[in-house]
Amino acid sequence: MVKVGIIGYGTVGSGVFEVLDVNKESIAEKSGEEIQVKRICDLREFPGDKAEKLITHDFNDILKDSEISVVVETMGGTKPAYDFVKASIEAGKSVCTSNKELVATYGAGLIKLAKQHNVNFLFEASVGGGIPVIRPLNHALTAEKVVEIKGILNGTTNFILTKMSREGSDYATVLKEAQDMGYAEKNPTADVEGFDTCRKIAILTSLAYGKQVDYNDIQTEGITKITKEDMDYAKALDASIKLIGESKIEDGSVYARVAPALIGREQPLYSVHDVFNAIFIKGNMVDDVMFYGRGAGKLPTASAVVADIVDAVKNKDRHITTIWEEDKLKLGDIRQYKQRFFVRVPESDKQDAKNSFSECEEVKTEKVKGEFAFITAPMSENEFDDVVKGLNVINRIIVNF
Ligand code: HSE
Repeated sequence: MVKVGIIGYGTVGSGVFEVLDVNKESIAEKSGEEIQVKRICDLREFPGDKAEKLITHDFNDILKDSEISVVVETMGGTKPAYDFVKASIEAGKSVCTSNKELVATYGAGLIKLAKQHNVNFLFEASVGGGIPVIRPLNHALTAEKVVEIKGILNGTTNFILTKMSREGSDYATVLKEAQDMGYAEKNPTADVEGFDTCRKIAILTSLAYGKQVDYNDIQTEGITKITKEDMDYAKALDASIKLIGESKIEDGSVYARVAPALIGREQPLYSVHDVFNAIFIKGNMVDDVMFYGRGAGKLPTASAVVADIVDAVKNKDRHITTIWEEDKLKLGDIRQYKQRFFVRVPESDKQDAKNSFSECEEVKTEKVKGEFAFITAPMSENEFDDVVKGLNVINRIIVNF
């Protein structure tokens, strides 16, 4: 019998308890041992909850319990999560976490520590919720050199963009609806400003190239400037607007970015709607593979954590190799990277725009009046910023088709 301690009995933590309970027999069969939650550390009380009697307010009740060999960290944030996880590993316990901030910030160091203590630090649920992507990157795609990763990595923003597109509503209205429905937090900054996506693409890029990507180095733009009119133009282009986290290697440099982008109908990411996530990985041998599913939510995310628990149990006394060194991966300057831009200016700037850009492929929609919208030739952001000086840009969006 394997005993587990959970730190943080919120949405994901309680989901882990539920998954272990509902699928108890099949999980025991797959792990070769029965898995039981022994203690749950949370500051709150949970009267009437199935796990009520397991609750402790003192993390030492998990840390000092030699029977507990696997710790699940589902509290979020880095303080005190990092200290708890570090202490657990140093005490010879494997740790499974869904905490992307912790993994993006301390992943390499915690993997190294786990190796030193011959235990495991596993984090499948930190990217893409219930979608298996970390394990495939570490195991199934080991024959590959990863050339590109591109994904819709945040459910909240994908829900908002999908609803804006379907209903023709503006950003503020849809955000309010998403908050009322529980899909967006009261303070939605981490999601809508792209920070959550940034941490997730930092984790995937670190794993793909085996070095530490500092998420502060990734240029990040959220969805707050996307308007109803942008959606109208997107439809005219037979495209959708998605918040994309991406990284790619070109001429030996890795470039990474988070930004809204126009995605054409022929691309698989076009059809990823609502709270769903999809991650597209291009290898130099296998070419394109794509992972799709629920990127957030209690049971999908908990399912990924439990799969890690099973892995930890199956690999007791054996460290699973994950190549992610602490050396920093210096990213290429994304502002030098060339792509096309979709640009909107007032009708009065039409001639100036045509004079300024070498190419202006006009985009028309009946729904928006008094503007000139166009797509540029491939150019870098630095070049773009130089050329648009003097023009009154209403909005510009990266074109990803
Ligand atoms: N807020 C995140 C999302 C939760 O919407 O994707 C899962 O990381």
